[in-house]
Amino acid sequence: MTLSPQHIAHFQDRGFLLLEDQFSAQELDLLRRRADVVLAGRDERTVMEASGTAVRSVYGPHEIDPVFAVLGRHPRLVGPAQRLLDGDVYVYQSKLNVKSPFDGEFWEWHQDYVFWRNEDRMPAPRVLTAAVYIDDVDDFNGPLVLIPGSHREGVLRCPTPTDLASDAPNWHSHVSARLKYAIHRDVLGGLARRYGLHAPKARAGALLLFDGNIAHASSTNISPFARSLILYTYNHVANAPARPTRPGFLVSRDTRAIAPVDDDSLLADAAAAQEAR
Ligand code: SIN
Ligand code: MN
Repeated sequence: MTLSPQHIAHFQDRGFLLLEDQFSAQELDLLRRRADVVLAGRDERTVMEASGTAVRSVYGPHEIDPVFAVLGRHPRLVGPAQRLLDGDVYVYQSKLNVKSPFDGEFWEWHQDYVFWRNEDRMPAPRVLTAAVYIDDVDDFNGPLVLIPGSHREGVLRCPTPTDLASDAPNWHSHVSARLKYAIHRDVLGGLARRYGLHAPKARAGALLLFDGNIAHASSTNISPFARSLILYTYNHVANAPARPTRPGFLVSRDTRAIAPVDDDSLLADAAAAQEAR
């Protein structure tokens, strides 16, 4: 996918870009099958919803699954990321967010970069996230909601962060429904009045790119359908934190520039693996 000047201007002005129908039915089939495998695992990468019954996220799927490794190096993601960040990129973080039927919980209003700046010392917001829609995303299954243009406001005010009392690891307050750096509610009214709210809804196969500083949130999933997204955060290679301390599945230690794979790699690799059996 080569981004047009209009695409680039849209991303720079609005802080996001939705590209529909980027992945075929066959590719989606493969991604859903691998997502099921990844979701069946339970280890330190797995974050459960507060109810304890449903998986919320799995971190670093590109490190543990060969198909998600290929997807992270896919030209349909890496090409736009390189173009929008103006240079070589690497995967800073990946995650599979499921938002399960009925049980998928909300994400508070937040910006991503403040977590990476405060927790990992990422030098600058030269970072974006590419989300592949594995399921249709509609009004009812908790679409991501963005405040278009809010990325131009820099890091917004957060309430004094408290480490939310629980037995969970410290970093869980960076990824669970109650976030350590949620945007202060006093700021949100003005922002939303100024810029409006937008939910980029689309069929499975869409790709959403969003800026590290855009304000975003999502609500609970009240529908009987999952809203799975696989998200890759691409950071410019010159913007890697020097000495990250959070686990490698939250902050990749491999900061080498990605050389994109071939465009047909997802299905070609799957076919080759099938034949080798
Ligand atoms: C969501 O999955 O709805 C939120 C993802 C994010 O904030 O990165
Ligand atoms: Mn986020």
